[in-house]
Amino acid sequence: MITSRRGFLHSLGAGAAAGIAMPWRSVGPILIEPLRTQQDGDFIRLNSNENAYGPSPKVAAAIQSAIAGANRYPRMQYSSLTEQIASFHQVKPEQILLGCGSTEILRMAAFAFLGSGKQLIHASPTFEATEHYAHAAGADAISVRLTPNFSHDLAGMLAYATESTTLVYICNPNNPTGSLTPRKDLEDFIAKLSASTYVVIDEAYHHYAGRSAMYSSFIDNPLHDDRVIVARTFSKIYALAGLRLGYAVAAPNVAGKMRAFATEDNINAVVTQAAAAALGDTDYLNQSIKRYKDDRQEFFNQAVSRFIKPIDSHANFVMMNIFHPADHVIEDFYKNKILIGRHFPPMDTYIRVSLGRPEEMQAFWRVWDTFPYSKLSHH
Ligand SMILES: Cc1ncc(COP(=O)(O)O)c(C=O)c1O
Repeated sequence: MITSRRGFLHSLGAGAAAGIAMPWRSVGPILIEPLRTQQDGDFIRLNSNENAYGPSPKVAAAIQSAIAGANRYPRMQYSSLTEQIASFHQVKPEQILLGCGSTEILRMAAFAFLGSGKQLIHASPTFEATEHYAHAAGADAISVRLTPNFSHDLAGMLAYATESTTLVYICNPNNPTGSLTPRKDLEDFIAKLSASTYVVIDEAYHHYAGRSAMYSSFIDNPLHDDRVIVARTFSKIYALAGLRLGYAVAAPNVAGKMRAFATEDNINAVVTQAAAAALGDTDYLNQSIKRYKDDRQEFFNQAVSRFIKPIDSHANFVMMNIFHPADHVIEDFYKNKILIGRHFPPMDTYIRVSLGRPEEMQAFWRVWDTFPYSKLSHH
């Protein structure tokens, strides 16, 4: 999260350098984040893999009514939400750990299992919050390039694993590539890791993947291995990124170890109600899944008609090689009031585009077609 926010600020910086007026909020000489609320209306935001359609009407109503309880700590709701999530996944409440976004889950895992002399292994590129927190915990982080078809290079990761490797982070589907790592390969990989190596499987984009021989969730289809921790979030398909709620499903003793590093009272009185309503609103969930499948297909149709071949996506974003420096393209979109994902080294000529609403995507392609290099991307 922190790294991507830095990337976000970096791309804003690029815009500023290009002479774009921006509403900076300043505290003395230090520039801090721009006033996003003023900006939000101006920019098309295809940069954070959010749900562009917003929460369901039932969730919006739950948010409204929760405001009356804003003066109270939501401690009782904490247990009822934990129970609701547990029964939703048919696990015990002791197996559920709530976090301020799944980012807090990743932080808890890093602090519970890493430290000086210990090592995290993760992919490159992948979602970097775990690496960031590994460093904060004093551990080393080893990044292993994705394979040419953008799955985790599990053999390569295994080659680096030692007794000091106490945490492996697997993002499936992977951010930023949207690609899958086959379930069977993950099982073989986990079986070969040492008994003291915990594995976080980050399923933030689970709902966009669909069931296939390649993919099945480690919650729905568990390994019954205490080393496996699954992270989920309400920020993506449930459209609650702004309210911050994520959770882990883990063995009770593992959840307990992580809980020691949770912020006290990390969940707010609004999101508990919103999440409860979101879990109950299956119709809206299915509608969102279908809508994103169609939106993704439409994006691919548009790309292919321009001779661009994106990476096969199993998420609500698409990464594609546009054979031009990503930083330039990001800046050019910024000048046209469109935010796209940041540059993800070493994929220097790839851009990541979060899928937005149809009219937002039409604007994206309209702007793309004005770039001189858009005509060259198939060479
Ligand atoms: C793979 C992955 N994990 C976790 C997160 C963090 O999401 P949140 O903290 O909002 O749950 C993100 C956000 O983009 C993500 O892409």
